[in-house]
Amino acid sequence: MTAQDHDSTRFPDGFLWGAATSSYQIEGAVREGGRGPSIWDTFSHTPGKTAGGDTGDIAVDHFHRWPQDIAMMQELGIQAYRFSVAWPRVIPQGTGSVNQAGLDFYDRLVDGLLESGIEPWLTLYHWDLPQPLGDEGGLTNRDVADAFERYAAVLTERLGDRVKRWCTVNEPFVAGFLGYWFGMHAPGETSRAAGLSAVHNLLRMHGKAVDVVRDTVPDAKVGIALNLTSVYTLGDSEADLDAVRHHDGLANRWFLDALYKGAYPEDMAEEFGDDTPDVQDGDLALISRETDFLGVNYYTPAYVKAGVENPFGDPTIAPDYERTAMGWLVEPRGLQDLLVRINQDYHPEAIYITENGAAYDDDRPVDGRVHDPRRIAYYHGHLGAAHEAIEEGVPLKGYFAWSLMDNFEWAEGYSKRFGIVHVDFSTQERTPKDSARWYANVIEENAIQPAESVGR
Ligand code: FCB
Repeated sequence: MTAQDHDSTRFPDGFLWGAATSSYQIEGAVREGGRGPSIWDTFSHTPGKTAGGDTGDIAVDHFHRWPQDIAMMQELGIQAYRFSVAWPRVIPQGTGSVNQAGLDFYDRLVDGLLESGIEPWLTLYHWDLPQPLGDEGGLTNRDVADAFERYAAVLTERLGDRVKRWCTVNEPFVAGFLGYWFGMHAPGETSRAAGLSAVHNLLRMHGKAVDVVRDTVPDAKVGIALNLTSVYTLGDSEADLDAVRHHDGLANRWFLDALYKGAYPEDMAEEFGDDTPDVQDGDLALISRETDFLGVNYYTPAYVKAGVENPFGDPTIAPDYERTAMGWLVEPRGLQDLLVRINQDYHPEAIYITENGAAYDDDRPVDGRVHDPRRIAYYHGHLGAAHEAIEEGVPLKGYFAWSLMDNFEWAEGYSKRFGIVHVDFSTQERTPKDSARWYANVIEENAIQPAESVGR
């Protein structure tokens, strides 16, 4: 089937269309409203850690511009908004006193969304760990899960009457492995044992938050958002196939087996040897609590071959594919294969694509327009793949574009634009790109639109 064959393909009634962001990437105002510092403030202010020395100090000033951002979403017909709460805005020290002003901010945001008919999807942890917890070993300290449990309780008590969709933790792979093992993200540690311990605690945090949401908001749906991928090799030697097994274990099974089977995969635990995390009684029962949905963040497949170790696979292995500005391969089949495989091996009750999208070097707006045909093509292809997966029986219930607007792309700073809305980082002006107009039509029709039709 070619990509065009998907034009006008309708999604099931009730399919949910959303857009996603995260607190540190958009809010700015890092010293306002009683917010405490996070490990990302520290990391981004450390010379050499982010492109151009960029920080989230101002980001896209969403802390002040949220009413405008909600209005913009309403105009685009966005049905659900996935955002994250900055833990250090709510409990600045990580433990101890609650900052009412921080809670008030999210309270107003949630009310504003609901008044505009947009369903709030709240992520509790999208990487901005309070720095005082960072000083105590951060995610490698088991106590972080108790602090998180209390933070989750504070938020569910305050917002649970209105927020009914909760994502516990975003991408434990990236927060744990990139932050503590590969050193590319905050706090920049480079120890495999630390990475594995951080991931274990992130999964414990998830389990604790599931219990809190169940207790406090019984009518809520709760799940985790994992970055997952399909792993391929172009080789056929035994060593190449073993590289696939290894990478799949690292990127997918380490998380999915723990969450859905209550056990870390044995082949990987054997590889990790003494670095395998300290699993205490009850940990895996906590981690594998039943959830209502699995959030899948998918961007690109991983191509691997024997002898090449890279946390995301090595894009140079598949030279013929188109790439985004991140250098990531564009391969919608990777999404379809992934969804089908997750459904077969783990049977989640429901799946939402909680992030999918692409960075390109967009031109500046001219006459209020930004032409981004490559981004439209990316979405077009991936929505086609998502639809194919539904036809193959995958319980896919919704889709969130990453991202609503250009923002602080972590170690890449402001150099990579993932938004469907363009942001001028000096004036903070927002301009919907053609991809946003195209996506608005997809939402309106609940159907894939031809890639060349930009829409209203
Ligand atoms: C994901 C993150 C998200 C964003 C995208 C591009 O790993 O969850 O914050 O940076 O990648």
